[in-house]
Amino acid sequence: MGKTSVIIMVLTLTVNNAYNYYEEINMNTMNWWQSSVIYQIYPRSFMDSNNDGIGDLRGITSRLDYISTLGIDAIWLSPVYKSPQDDNGYDISDYMDIDPMFGTMKDMIELISKAKERGISIIMDLVLNHTSDEHPWFKEAKKSKENPYHDYYVWVDGEEGAVPNQLKACFGGSAWEWVSELQQYYLHLFSVRQPDLNWENPKVRNEIYNMINWWIDKGVRGFRLDVIDLIGKEPLKGITSNGPHLHDYIREMTSRTWGQKKLLTVGETWGASPENAKIFSCMDGSEFSMVFQFEHISLDQQEGKEKWDLAPIDFIRLKEVLSKWQIELENDGWNSLFWNNHDLPRIVSRWGDDKEYREESAKMLATIIHGMKGTPYIYQGEELGMTNVQYDISDYKDIETLNLYKERIDAGYSKDEIMESIFAKGRDNARTPMQWDTSEYSGFSKKEPWIKVNPNYPMINAKEQISRESSVYNYYIELIALRKKHKVIRFGSYKLLLPKHDKLFAYQRSYEDILLTVICNLTRDYVDATKDLIKNYQLLLCNYSEIKDEIRLRPYEARVYINAK
Ligand code: GLC
Ligand code: CA
Repeated sequence: MGKTSVIIMVLTLTVNNAYNYYEEINMNTMNWWQSSVIYQIYPRSFMDSNNDGIGDLRGITSRLDYISTLGIDAIWLSPVYKSPQDDNGYDISDYMDIDPMFGTMKDMIELISKAKERGISIIMDLVLNHTSDEHPWFKEAKKSKENPYHDYYVWVDGEEGAVPNQLKACFGGSAWEWVSELQQYYLHLFSVRQPDLNWENPKVRNEIYNMINWWIDKGVRGFRLDVIDLIGKEPLKGITSNGPHLHDYIREMTSRTWGQKKLLTVGETWGASPENAKIFSCMDGSEFSMVFQFEHISLDQQEGKEKWDLAPIDFIRLKEVLSKWQIELENDGWNSLFWNNHDLPRIVSRWGDDKEYREESAKMLATIIHGMKGTPYIYQGEELGMTNVQYDISDYKDIETLNLYKERIDAGYSKDEIMESIFAKGRDNARTPMQWDTSEYSGFSKKEPWIKVNPNYPMINAKEQISRESSVYNYYIELIALRKKHKVIRFGSYKLLLPKHDKLFAYQRSYEDILLTVICNLTRDYVDATKDLIKNYQLLLCNYSEIKDEIRLRPYEARVYINAK
């Protein structure tokens, strides 16, 4: 091989590397993560390489080709740090080590480098609001009020049995836990085993920044920041999210860590409004790349109540909310686009139809999100149209679900009522093992997994879908490819069409002289669109194999048109 061909080969390799490629084409306006599609992995449920029934890092590495074929640019990895697993890894006892259950640091480095070979970045999950009660900081902190680590956590003097205030923990009960040796309460906004860190202490902040930089040096390309809008809390005043110093802390963290490094950072902010999301995702890079907002996700619960208190979804409201975020963040800010994650039920069971029209509705819901402006996130199994489960209470593993069950039984709810809520909203819906093929335990493991496999795996699995052109999986490939191909999807402005229509979700994107129209039927009814919606545009994508009637949309039909030029 001559020198020139070697150079050409190197160039081709670089061009194939996804993020370099995007940096190149969007140099003037875009960051790589604005053109990217992210895939979330919940490691314990993705792929088990050593057949102990729990997914692990080597399992993920073994499936990188599957992810790469989808067209993914980055993987957001739920926590793999050392942890007693009280909340499946969201309770960290060592931020700078890997839990043996998931493998070793060597496996992690291998995953980072094998992913990079495929142009895929690794985004780590940072849980900075709290640690595990087994973190050495907390073990020290509990020893005495004089201990140098005492002030790493949030303590209040008091008397046993008289909690400082009525603040509740997200997983039930009081947010205050009594430690009799110290005659103090500590704060835990989640489980008793997840004590909250004291962000007012500069030593805590320093330790965290050093740890983040250590991970950046290992080659990770970004972070998802768990419940980050809670770190500025003032618990004695009853303030949890969006506390007065929140943005100061985030700006300090950014400037001391990823600030100049072009990483993808996404904050989990349940309490975000478009106003503060614009600050979080401000384009000057002083905070995060974007946040996860949950306004659309909270639409099927009774107002002022908990997520378990179910209410039917109002599609007009859903359209309003998603459109509001598109428009508000259009120029100053950036949206994340998602239906699912490890805390949410499967979208096809939630707002689609997981029986007769499972494939059509899964594709339709995907089309809504993937046609919008922002960075789309796909949660493992979503690309197969995986569904919710209905198990006996003894088969559930999630601390939130188990606590809820006890709490509501004590409060006098009927078992059926509670199970109905768990079937609809329980987090284990998203945490059942990935469905790879029809072999026992769905090809996830050869040993009985830590949580039961969804019994529908012989019908819904990756192997079958890869080989069938009309599958949900292959439709996701098309959607992702469309985003990469059409600037109008990445940069175009957004306009909601037919705002008062309660069955069709239609919107238009425009960029320079290009118009893209997305029309989705949210229901199982046949619904007529209008001629002017379609004009003589060219059809780019449809979730049915052919269009028979231009005007009439079939159940859960989705179409994407572009103006013919
Ligand atoms: C976030 C995580 C969730 C976890 C909680 C406490 O909401 O996504 O899984 O239980 O924070 O860390
Ligand atoms: Ca394993």
